Amino acid sequence: MTAPYRIAVIPGDGIGQEVVPEAVKALNAIGDACGHAFEFQEMLAGWVAIDAYGTPIRDEDLEVCKRSHAILFGANGDPRRDEISVPVRPERALLRIRKELQLFANLRPVRVTPELAPVSPLKQDLVEGVDLVVVRELTGGIYYGEPSRRWQDEDGERRAVDTLLYSETEIRRIISYACELARTRGSHVASVDKANVLSSSRLWREIAMEVAAEYPDVTVEHVLVDAMAMLLIREPKRFDVIVTENMFGDILTDEAAQLTGSIGLLPSASLGAESNEAGHRLGFYEPIHGSAPDIAGKGIANPTAAILSAALLLRNSLGLEKEAAIVESAVARALRERKATADIVRDGPALTTTQMGDVIAAHIKEAAAA
Ligand code: IPM
Ligand code: MN
Repeated sequence: MTAPYRIAVIPGDGIGQEVVPEAVKALNAIGDACGHAFEFQEMLAGWVAIDAYGTPIRDEDLEVCKRSHAILFGANGDPRRDEISVPVRPERALLRIRKELQLFANLRPVRVTPELAPVSPLKQDLVEGVDLVVVRELTGGIYYGEPSRRWQDEDGERRAVDTLLYSETEIRRIISYACELARTRGSHVASVDKANVLSSSRLWREIAMEVAAEYPDVTVEHVLVDAMAMLLIREPKRFDVIVTENMFGDILTDEAAQLTGSIGLLPSASLGAESNEAGHRLGFYEPIHGSAPDIAGKGIANPTAAILSAALLLRNSLGLEKEAAIVESAVARALRERKATADIVRDGPALTTTQMGDVIAAHIKEAAAA
């Protein structure tokens, strides 16, 4: 057995508290079966941290995250407490982790398998076979640009400003990352911008063209963000890797997730440039479904996205490709056998969150022993 991998675990708010333990269960199952040990360090972030400590995430907990091999995250937020004027917002935790750990590449894969195609709100033949990944720039742009503030003019008029700022270095590293990723997939990149209006987008496109020239084996096309919003619905199968700036990526990934019709199944990874001690990128892994307060506490949340996030963690931050594939196949088997929560099994007896986690853990052990 090798030295334990240190994983920071942040269940956060709402169903994060229910699905993250199932992802931990899956990691322990694969660890036991394949001879890897994990040391989990659990901490609070989001509303639970604001309530306990008065801050969305404590500095000492951020330090623990920085020293970890990877971070497994649940969700933050609670719309029931979402007044626009709250002084400390829970989202701060997420924004600080991204920035301070320099997790600049956010990967949101969207794959529509034959089992999922009927669930999609779009026509089956339009979405079946979709296999794309959105690479969203995560530490720059309008989320972090200064100035960002509001004020009141002498005449009483309220004003506010946010700044969409990018440097050449930030653009180059994310476009390069997307091109490298495309080489391992369909060798096609769609770079999304608003170069017909924004200066920052004109710089984005200029750098994207320069980087593209370094990857003659990858086809890079440039698509305006409004056109992309349309094409994602009209011809989603045309895309392989889509790379874009922070806010466009935020918006387009909610749209792209809907191609599957079930946001509850999708994992995501946020990666930095730095290698961790395992020789891989430090990464932050989260299901994209959010805290879902309407179903929180009922034990019915689908743990799939959290467990698939753990698989991405094994692959990207620990370099354990075989183990990641075993976890993914165990999840696929549970879904295929319809041993799943009520969002999937609408007509027969559905499992609880914990029961589905147990089934997947058992499938993992079986597959690893085979
Ligand atoms: C996301 C979320 C976050 C974002 C919020 C919660 C800050 O919407 O991860 O997509 O806007 O990045
Ligand atoms: Mn979002």
